Amino acid sequence: MSRQQISPSILSADFAQLAQEVERVGPEADLLHVDVMDGHFVPNLTIGPPVVASLRTHTDLFLHCHLMVDNPTVLLDDFAEAGADEITVHVEVGDPRPAFERIRERGVGVGLTSNPATPFDAVEPYLGEIDVFLVMSVNPGWGGQAFMPEALDKVRAARRLVDERGLDLRIEIDGGINVETGPQAAQAGVDTLVAGSAIFGADDPAGAARRIREAAWPNGS
Ligand code: DX5
Ligand code: ZN
Repeated sequence: MSRQQISPSILSADFAQLAQEVERVGPEADLLHVDVMDGHFVPNLTIGPPVVASLRTHTDLFLHCHLMVDNPTVLLDDFAEAGADEITVHVEVGDPRPAFERIRERGVGVGLTSNPATPFDAVEPYLGEIDVFLVMSVNPGWGGQAFMPEALDKVRAARRLVDERGLDLRIEIDGGINVETGPQAAQAGVDTLVAGSAIFGADDPAGAARRIREAAWPNGS
């Protein structure tokens, strides 16, 4: 997959018109970010496999499911079945390797993420085993929060390691990304910018996505 990507987070879309929202942003989206919250790992409750299955019938976009759930392993088959292209789990919920194995068995991409307070050391041992490392730049749970600049240190550490080891790993950032923070993240070495409220909160979501892309990577890919 090519780098320098924009991944709109549908968390800030109108859930009652998801197909139209996705269609509108489609021309400027490289992938779609689907935030799954279970009401336990985070207090909020959002999307489950049936919504992903419905979305799958309306779009060919790559679907990246970010699982903010306590027990991801029991849900992996359902998300794979629903049509997820990539599934990311949180390192805070315990040894992620059983989940990695289950995701891979289903032919789906494997991702790992960590909360802002979790040190880079906690994810570092796994970076050679995954397709995407998602750096959280807000505390997970809601869209529309302010970007935490300290996340850039984690991005830089990951970028250094990926380059040193020649890993085939995408680095994404998620939370508070807009035309100001997107360029900072790109400078720090991010491949994929996730943005929810900055895209779906705009009158023209595709235009907003394009402006973030142009601000982050002014010379194009
Ligand atoms: C937060 C989610 C994010 C969220 C980002 O828990 O993981 O994906 O949708 O939203 P913004 O871009 O509004 O911070
Ligand atoms: Zn997310």
